[in-house]
Amino acid sequence: MIDQFTIEKILDAANIVDVVSEFVTLRRRGVNFVGLCPFHNEKTPSFYVSPSKGICKCFSCGKGGNVIHFLMEHEQMSYWDAAKWLARKYGIPYSERELTESEKALQNERESLFITNQFALDFFKDTLLNTDKGRAIGLAYFRKRGFRDDILEKFHLGYCPDEPDALARAALAKGFTKENLIKTGLCYERENDGQLRDRFHGRVIFPVHSIAGKVVAFGGRIMSADAKVAKYVNSPESVIYSKSRELYGLYQAKQAIVRKDRCFLVEGYADVISMFQSGVENVVASSGTSLTPGQIRLIHRFTNNITVLYDGDKAGIKASLRGIDMLLAEGMNVKVLLLPDGEDPDSFAQGRGATAFQQYIDTHQVDFIRFKVNLLMEDAADDPYSRSELIKSITQSISVIQDPIVRSVYITECSQIMKIDERLLINDVNRRQREQAQAAPQPQRTAQTADENGQNPEPPQAEPDAPDAPAEPTPEPQISDQDRLRQQVRALKQEGFGPMMDKERLLSQLIVRYGGKVMCTYQDDKGQDQNMTVGQFIVGSLQNDGLEFRHPVYKRFVEIMAEHLEEKDFNAQKFFMSNPETFVSLTAASLMEERYQLSSLFKDNMPTEDEAHLFKLTRHIMADYQMEVVRLEIKKTEKEIQEASSDTLASLQTKYQQLLQARSELSRTLGERVITL
Ligand code: CTP
Ligand code: MN
Repeated sequence: MIDQFTIEKILDAANIVDVVSEFVTLRRRGVNFVGLCPFHNEKTPSFYVSPSKGICKCFSCGKGGNVIHFLMEHEQMSYWDAAKWLARKYGIPYSERELTESEKALQNERESLFITNQFALDFFKDTLLNTDKGRAIGLAYFRKRGFRDDILEKFHLGYCPDEPDALARAALAKGFTKENLIKTGLCYERENDGQLRDRFHGRVIFPVHSIAGKVVAFGGRIMSADAKVAKYVNSPESVIYSKSRELYGLYQAKQAIVRKDRCFLVEGYADVISMFQSGVENVVASSGTSLTPGQIRLIHRFTNNITVLYDGDKAGIKASLRGIDMLLAEGMNVKVLLLPDGEDPDSFAQGRGATAFQQYIDTHQVDFIRFKVNLLMEDAADDPYSRSELIKSITQSISVIQDPIVRSVYITECSQIMKIDERLLINDVNRRQREQAQAAPQPQRTAQTADENGQNPEPPQAEPDAPDAPAEPTPEPQISDQDRLRQQVRALKQEGFGPMMDKERLLSQLIVRYGGKVMCTYQDDKGQDQNMTVGQFIVGSLQNDGLEFRHPVYKRFVEIMAEHLEEKDFNAQKFFMSNPETFVSLTAASLMEERYQLSSLFKDNMPTEDEAHLFKLTRHIMADYQMEVVRLEIKKTEKEIQEASSDTLASLQTKYQQLLQARSELSRTLGERVITL
């Protein structure tokens, strides 16, 4: 972890226009910059960057935040990785928090395996490009397959010499340990004499990158047509590689997936590379195994839409149908693209440019359930047994879909295609859903939506406080913090706290913008003049009344503010915007952004930071919030009085009178016109 002071330095140094421009073409518009939003598909630019505030935001999809949030979202980095990326870019030295002994040990092990793999990758690349044998064998092979040089570089393809231990010798000479060569799977010990052997010798090399671009594994392809040895050899599992949690090509494809809001799924290394080369860059491979939930969630971080590419082989298609049901269960929209007979994505892409390929995709991709019904219908024909198997299989697919509307559309459509009574399908789907609910009470993933305020204060992919060191392989995501937060807020709204949280939001906005600013002076016990800041007033008022905010993030604002009340010249904006709790900094960015919210209370007058004005503004908003508290309390007390027994009635009525009095006092404060300057 990096300390907050350094994070602030990083944010000070980072120029948001400069950073965003690395990924998005920006044009100046007044004091701001605009461009096409990288987080959704659009034709007219709605992505704004404000250099003065240090924030960016898409006014269409709502995504944005400060420069760290931008990198988190765009590059799918953790908070700390994004901060480190910026520190390196701007040459700011940083040191990280002390890790515990066991964290250290694990991190050291993982780090040294990554370094070992990186060495091997460089060695394989160098062999491919700069040695006679590499060029004559490996490079010639790739050229024959039609891979361009820029693509070899993009995917870091390589070649391992056809000698028993060329890599092992080179690595040991450089000081890499035998132990790590074995742990990464690059080498193994020969049985009889314990000599190190290269696992990939005589093969061309396809490195597998993690989502963050680290080399976690390799695949090696034999070039001869020798049927006795496996065509591909892959790295075994290790502390840095879990096959079921990686997707080949995702590192190279992730930006295109976000941009196109779609991911193509193919089987093999060569399929990914050829499609990418032909211009279809949003493509990943499951590497010959069936999809796992972990892989699906990886894709889901970037898009809801997936198209599975098949070659014409029916047996293969049928075997993979189950994997696709899992995509549906994860809430993905699944389409299927069947390639012409005898073609696989690799061969199909090789002969075509991006436009032709894209055209084929657009005209031929079909919805998965329709595809499945039609596929199975061909076989089932009039055979009653196959027909009932077909129905089972289809209702199974439909029953995993979470969205009831989508489900019912499919049911109607399938009943028509299969000529089956709709009610029968409905019953079967319902029964399966009940069974599934009993079998596995799994948390649902909720799709990405704006929060209830219509804003997007929560980070899209927050990993709020996990140190980034042991973050690879990606831990199986549980229900995310973001989802949990959203659920909490939704529940609070249902309990009737919506209006109150709106007021909390305004107070939070004051805290973030002016928390450390003096708004008035007062005399203390000794008759001395003292300054009162906006933060002190808000925190003090809440403490006096024994009140706590309901909204979990706004509540954090107050807590954090309370820790810094005595700090002279506390720069709240900076502090909140750079806060490593991603929810806090992201919400702060969004509060900085809403220019008109505070001023709308005062008609056309923008609030200024003048002391007198700040005082009135803060007091007014505080009173407004207190009014909401009192209103709810009055309602509650009225109800209690109705249900009260004789011995509690008197005290309830006293309380009620007090509340009414508080209400009239507050309405006096609120009635005062706030004169803006
Ligand atoms: N695969 C593997 N081990 C094998 C065969 C296949 O790991 N013995 C994986 C590889 O990731 C491969 C994918 O399964 O890319 C698909 O296999 P296949 O279709 O046989 O290979 P292609 O990708 O078509 O490879 P190529 O075009 O080089 O023959
Ligand atoms: Mn192939």
